[in-house]
Amino acid sequence: MTYNLDGKTAIVTGGASGIGRKTAERFAAEGANVVVADVVTDGGEETVESIESAGGSATFVETDVTDPDAVEAMVQTAVDTYGGLDIAHNNAGIEGENDPLAEQTEANWKQVMDINLTGVWLCLKYELQEMTANGDGDGDSDSGAIVNTSSIAGLSAAGSSAYAASKHGVIGLTRVATTEYADADVRVNAVCPGVIETPMVEQSAAENPEEIEQFVGMQPLNRMGSPEEIANAVVWLCSDEASFVTGNAYPVDGGFTAL
Ligand SMILES: NC(=O)c1ccc[n+]([C@@H]2O[C@H](COP(=O)([O-])OP(=O)(O)OC[C@H]3O[C@@H](n4cnc5c(N)ncnc54)[C@H](O)[C@@H]3O)[C@@H](O)[C@H]2O)c1
Repeated sequence: MTYNLDGKTAIVTGGASGIGRKTAERFAAEGANVVVADVVTDGGEETVESIESAGGSATFVETDVTDPDAVEAMVQTAVDTYGGLDIAHNNAGIEGENDPLAEQTEANWKQVMDINLTGVWLCLKYELQEMTANGDGDGDSDSGAIVNTSSIAGLSAAGSSAYAASKHGVIGLTRVATTEYADADVRVNAVCPGVIETPMVEQSAAENPEEIEQFVGMQPLNRMGSPEEIANAVVWLCSDEASFVTGNAYPVDGGFTAL
């Protein structure tokens, strides 16, 4: 154990796979109770099994982050099961179509925005309602810590138009939520992964291997990152070790954004 999250409760959206699964496992390994939220039931339950078999505590709640009622119920599950909410990793996302802008469909634009951007806004809304119920405004950042998953596509032109717009939007939401809720002692940050070896990237690589190779080649460390390497950053940002860190977007990208 590196960070002491004993007794804290964390929500992870997109917890059935990839980065979300590794963050959920890591939160639990640090002592937190974890609510694993995802549209995919099998994968979500596998994450819970993996946490429980390692001695941790977790609950799966089927959640579509585009559905306000489901997101409200997700937060309520944390309250009902574990007595409150201290930490959230708003991470569910999709890549969508990779075609140039003029060839993308309106349906793709809407779906990517709904999941990647509106989904994060809805999660923030209901998480902040719960976290601020305890905010005493003494500046010790002890009411809650939230990390939203953006991307290098939130900081640059990497990625398609809809994906990049949604991930730039996540950083905007992160900054505004920080300024609006700092007085209530909630910290809000974003993490911006580079190319990370997850099912999302494996699918892209199967469809267009040259493109993934090209992006990996633009990361000076010249390899894909692992989901564990993103989880390391997320858990740090949510821990008391990051008590003065709020309102920004942190690349974990093998150096991609340095170029
Ligand atoms: N893998 C990468 O290289 C990379 C890079 C930058 C950013 N990201 C971001 O990291 C996050 C996690 O991606 P990943 O690579 O682990 O992909 P992944 O496909 O392995 O995991 C994404 C998870 O989100 C879930 N999800 C999708 N739509 C949902 C919805 N409407 N409601 C709830 N859950 C939903 C999926 O079921 C899946 O379990 C995403 O936001 C992605 O955009 C990934």
